[in-house]
Order: sequence, then C-alpha cells, then structure tokens
Amino acid sequence: MNILAETSRLVLREFVRSDTDRMYELYTDPLVLQYLDEKPFNDIKQAEEVIEFIRKQYIDNGTGRLAVLKKDTNEFIGWAGLKYVTGSYNNHSNYYEVGYRFIQRYWGKGYATEAAQASLDFGFNELKLHEIYAMADSGNVSSRMVLEKIGMHDLEKFDLEGHEHDWFKITRTQWEKWKT
Ligand SMILES: CC(C)(COP(=O)(O)OP(=O)(O)OC[C@H]1O[C@@H](n2cnc3c(N)ncnc32)[C@H](O)[C@@H]1OP(=O)(O)O)[C@@H](O)C(=O)NCCC(=O)NCCS
Repeated sequence: MNILAETSRLVLREFVRSDTDRMYELYTDPLVLQYLDEKPFNDIKQAEEVIEFIRKQYIDNGTGRLAVLKKDTNEFIGWAGLKYVTGSYNNHSNYYEVGYRFIQRYWGKGYATEAAQASLDFGFNELKLHEIYAMADSGNVSSRMVLEKIGMHDLEKFDLEGHEHDWFKITRTQWEKWKT
C-alpha cells in the first residue's frame, strides 16, 4: 500500500479493498453528499466499486483520489487528492482537479485544508503539473474556504446542472509564490 504524501497529522495513501466499510460510511451520509449530485449508497458493493474505479485511475492516469488517515490513530477519515478529469466541466476537459470528502465527525478540524494542500504539493512536486483546477457548489462555503486557504483562485461562476458553482485554478507559478 503506497503512501504518497504525509502532513503533520495525516497520511495520504492509495486506496485498498479493506477501506470499503469506511467508504460506505462516507457515502451513506446525506450531509456529505449535500452539495454533490449523488445519492447515498444503499449497498456496500457500491463502495467496493468506487474503490475499484479509483484504483483503475491510478493505473490509467498515474494518479487518483487517495485515502486519508489520521497518523495518530491510523483511522480512515475520508479521501482527498487529484483526479484526471476527462469529462467536460465549465468548457474544460482533460485536466487535473483537486477534491476531498470527509466523514462528518472529522469536519471543522482543518483536515480538509491540510490534505488539499498536500494534494497540490504532490501535483506540482511529483507529477510536475503546470496547473490544477477545482470546482465547488457556490453554497458549499466550507469547501470554497478550503480552496481559498490553499491559494487557489476563484475565477468565475458557472452553471452545473442548474446549480451555481465556483471555478478555481492555481498555476505552478502561483503555487510557488503561495508557498514562500
Ligand atoms: C468540504 C469539507 C471537506 C470541508 O471540511 P472541513 O473539515 O470543514 O474543512 P477544514 O476544517 O479544513 O476548513 C474549513 C474552513 O471553512 C470554514 N468554514 C466552514 N463553514 C463555514 C461557513 N459556513 N462560513 C464561513 N466559514 C466556514 C472553517 O472555519 C474552516 O476555516 P478555518 O480553518 O479558518 O477555521 C467537508 O465539509 C466535507 O467533506 N463535505 C462533504 C463533501 C464535499 O462537499 N466535498 C467538497 C466538494 S467540492
């Protein structure tokens, strides 16, 4: 099981099949999915399929969402990381996107910000990317805060299936400046 990034409190590693139960917990909480166009899971097989899908992306795209664990307890608390997006969003396709999703009891502790920052660092340091994008429902205040706190720029609003979203971007140059 590959550890790809570490922060002071967190480990970001590749997903493994034994993460299924905690992934199921994550995807059955309607509040976690509140700003996402997804229905809560009702069968643990759906969690297995998501993990398989993510693991395939590691092979196909060289990266994908990573399991996030608390270092002190080794608990799975959610996921974060980069996804290579092939679909079209806000007239963009074939780009790297940073994202995150955490079990509700771990919200409000700065873990999302820490994991998202580590994801950008991984993208620019290891994958040598030139730019990374993100999007968030405009009503998802905590997610927009996370993106701003890691130095991403809120470029514009756009419509995604009837919901207003914010479109974020950070270039390598902006990230280098942010880190100094
Ligand atoms: C989005 C999500 C990851 C944020 O997690 P979190 O634990 O709240 O994030 P953090 O603790 O790292 O930081 C959130 C920041 O937003 C701030 N914030 C949260 N809600 C806020 C609000 N309503 N108004 C103003 N600020 C708010 C917090 O105070 C914190 O800033 P601080 O560290 O300066 O205090 C979490 O809510 C989640 O998993 N949601 C479900 C999945 C999801 O929506 N993912 C994002 C899709 S775009």
